[in-house]
Amino acid sequence: MRLADKVALVTGSGSGIGQAIADRFAREGAKVIVNDLYRERAEETARRIAAAGGEVLAIQADVSQSAAVQALVEQGLATFGRIDILVNNAGASRGDDILTFDEATWDWNLAVVLKSVYLCSRAVLPQMIERGRGAIVNISSVNGIVGLGEEAYSAAKAGMNVLTKNMAVKYGRFGIRVNAICPGTVRTPIWGPRVEHDPQIFERLAKWYPLGRVGEPEDIANAALFLASDEAAWITGALLVVDGGLLAGSYRMTLELEGQAEA
Ligand SMILES: NC(=O)c1ccc[n+]([C@@H]2O[C@H](COP(=O)([O-])OP(=O)(O)OC[C@H]3O[C@@H](n4cnc5c(N)ncnc54)[C@H](O)[C@@H]3O)[C@@H](O)[C@H]2O)c1
Repeated sequence: MRLADKVALVTGSGSGIGQAIADRFAREGAKVIVNDLYRERAEETARRIAAAGGEVLAIQADVSQSAAVQALVEQGLATFGRIDILVNNAGASRGDDILTFDEATWDWNLAVVLKSVYLCSRAVLPQMIERGRGAIVNISSVNGIVGLGEEAYSAAKAGMNVLTKNMAVKYGRFGIRVNAICPGTVRTPIWGPRVEHDPQIFERLAKWYPLGRVGEPEDIANAALFLASDEAAWITGALLVVDGGLLAGSYRMTLELEGQAEA
């Protein structure tokens, strides 16, 4: 059990990647605080974990709201006494091109994706500092590194990446590690509207991935488990790209350079 006796708070764990992380952490012995904006989603993940014999607490909270985050962390601490691991996973995206979305959309993306990380981190850090240990894993995106559209969301993810590094530098001396995972396309409900519009989207996107497929939530949960565990004891401030090779380079361009471009 790689997380025996650890208490983990996983935001947005009522669905997709967060749910896979919560499930995996519980299987590795962690007591898990499951959070989601939607109560029924948080409770569903908690039911799965409890049914598998895990210790779990479900809390509805909007992690972009300061008072809600404070109440979430207080309730978690009142139940389990401490929070050893924070996974800032909650996220969503609205709007695409800066010329087509409005200011409210920009603000919304920044609040849900980036401000939430600031709010949750500042709420859990004091008790981590007091105990001289802790691990924070931020679920960022390849969109925070290169241009792939969804500009407001992507700018927020880029902010998350540099916030990760600043927190790593500042809190390392208190035994706290802060890392981020940058996933490529992962098959989760966040893609629902796009799948509805184009049922073959994952198959079409797969061709951009050197490993020939899009990711599954468990691919990200495996990386989160590693970064949260003591196996990553000397890793902090890292951006771990988990993307089937997407950012490694371009196969199409390689062929072009070698004069073998496909028609
Ligand atoms: N799926 C992908 O292709 C992909 C790629 C890169 C990064 N990510 C990131 O992974 C994380 C998880 O995404 P997912 O694909 O599992 O999506 P998802 O929609 O399946 O799950 C996200 C969960 O977060 C919750 N949530 C949203 N806003 C919230 C808020 N303000 N407070 C609390 N909970 C909130 C949602 O209700 C939902 O249950 C996100 O940060 C996303 O940006 C996803």
